[in-house]
Amino acid sequence: MAEDNREKKLTSYGDAGFSKFIRQAFNRHLGFDTEDFNKPVIGICNTKSEINRCHAHIGPLVQAIKNGVLMAGGIPLEFPTISLGEINTSPTTMLYRNLAAMDTEEMIRAQPIDGVVLIGGCDKVTPAQLMGAASADIPSIIITGGPMNNGEYEGRTLGACSDCRFFWQEYRGGKVNEQEIDAINKALAPTAGHCMVMGSASTMAVCAEAMGMMLPGGAAIPATDNRRLQHALETGKQIVQLVDKGIKPSQIITRKSLENAIRMLVAVGGSTNAVIHLIAIAGRLNIDLPLSLFDEISKTTPFIANLRPAGKYQMEDFFKAGGAPVVLKELENLLHNEELTVTGKTLGENIANVKCSETYREIITPFDRPLHKEGGIAVLKGNLAPNGAVIKPKAASKDLLTHKGRAVVFSSLKDLEERIDDPELNITADDIMVLQNAGPVGAPGMPEAGMLPIPQKLLKEGVRDMIRISDARMSGTAFGTVILHTAPEAAVGGPIGLVKTGDIIEVDIEKRLLHLHVTEEELENRRTVWNPPLFEERGYTQLYQKHVLQADQGCDFDFLVQKPNKGL
Ligand code: FES
Repeated sequence: MAEDNREKKLTSYGDAGFSKFIRQAFNRHLGFDTEDFNKPVIGICNTKSEINRCHAHIGPLVQAIKNGVLMAGGIPLEFPTISLGEINTSPTTMLYRNLAAMDTEEMIRAQPIDGVVLIGGCDKVTPAQLMGAASADIPSIIITGGPMNNGEYEGRTLGACSDCRFFWQEYRGGKVNEQEIDAINKALAPTAGHCMVMGSASTMAVCAEAMGMMLPGGAAIPATDNRRLQHALETGKQIVQLVDKGIKPSQIITRKSLENAIRMLVAVGGSTNAVIHLIAIAGRLNIDLPLSLFDEISKTTPFIANLRPAGKYQMEDFFKAGGAPVVLKELENLLHNEELTVTGKTLGENIANVKCSETYREIITPFDRPLHKEGGIAVLKGNLAPNGAVIKPKAASKDLLTHKGRAVVFSSLKDLEERIDDPELNITADDIMVLQNAGPVGAPGMPEAGMLPIPQKLLKEGVRDMIRISDARMSGTAFGTVILHTAPEAAVGGPIGLVKTGDIIEVDIEKRLLHLHVTEEELENRRTVWNPPLFEERGYTQLYQKHVLQADQGCDFDFLVQKPNKGL
């Protein structure tokens, strides 16, 4: 198996013998002898970057993976791919997720490796790596750098980035002073690792476990805990076994294993971003994952993890409670337990002996005593979102789950920035804020702008939540009554782009309704004077705008989604 894979990847000189000869000559600098290269060669796809602090610490983990590969009789070779850090990448990492996925896929495909360990951690890296691995389809295991430890300020646990947002809002509202916000800033991200609430990074890690692409228990181990090194070592050993058995992502990532991942997503109150990413991963293997499936699964899955931003605890606590394997054990009766995983065993076999400790029942509740009887994602439809929109009802205000209000429209991010704190802005707490042109094509890149800031004048009156609707995303660490991913987006002619200030919008989460009270005739009139936005004139952004799919289709590029085999 190992040798076959590398034989397929000989450099094209038109002379296979010379290709092998020159490759051996050049690879001797690694210190390996000829026979060593007959062993399974394991690529370690490393996204380490000092600019991306969520990955800055992964050097020792990479070394542990290498040690594991060597112990199991393989040859580990590290290679770099694009690193995407949420905080330091502009305008938004989502613009580059597909680029990272292409980089991952093509480097796996091009290089003479038999298997790959993918290591990263920040929000977009895990999905990009899974998308790339799914398309390249050689034996692969994913591991992350792990979450940060809890922060603390004045006896209160701090979580990045839920508390970044919470305290900034309090600061803007005048409840936190300069000195306090400075002290909080210093305590928000206290250790190495990715965000330690159930944000997008943690969500994608637990989903990777549930779909079988990560060794059990790996998602929740804190970045600073020795047990993560052990997990990395085991990952290195296991990838050699996977190569030996010839187990590929296409055997692990199936419609059923993705349904398991969706169960996990909704049971832990995970990030809405995972909806887009899971659809994109599925698309790489020609698996249809309609938005309606997320809603269906959410309605039939109990909400059992008490984690911020929808709950109380953070990843460090989740780890103590047993992490993803305990959630899977609780959900056992709802899962496709026969699905194959990177352990070489089925999901059911992996969790057969998992115990749920009573000590931590407040963090992961039993299946029959859930925090809520339904999961954490709802999919809305209506004339404002014909192809759907999503909301995290558990992170929303109960009194806003059914609401009819006047739209206050911002036509772009720039417009929002310029007017949001204008004392003359005509807005009340009962109004519904609408942000247009912040979707995949429009922004471009669908930034995490969906949690529109509450206008300062309302903050000062004590308002802390309002209904906000957009074609943007929001950070998995964010919260509020925020309706996202409205599709089609404004920039491709979606109805959200036709809303005007003063229109009446009706939201009913229970009925899954998002309705604009404007007649079809009037919408048609507005459509005739609507102009599509101009595309970028060159480069990657132009490629992105021309080829990105809408949110309900996973925002992958149309040319990267696997097409069904048409046959003859
Ligand atoms: Fe990287 Fe939050 S900024 S996970």
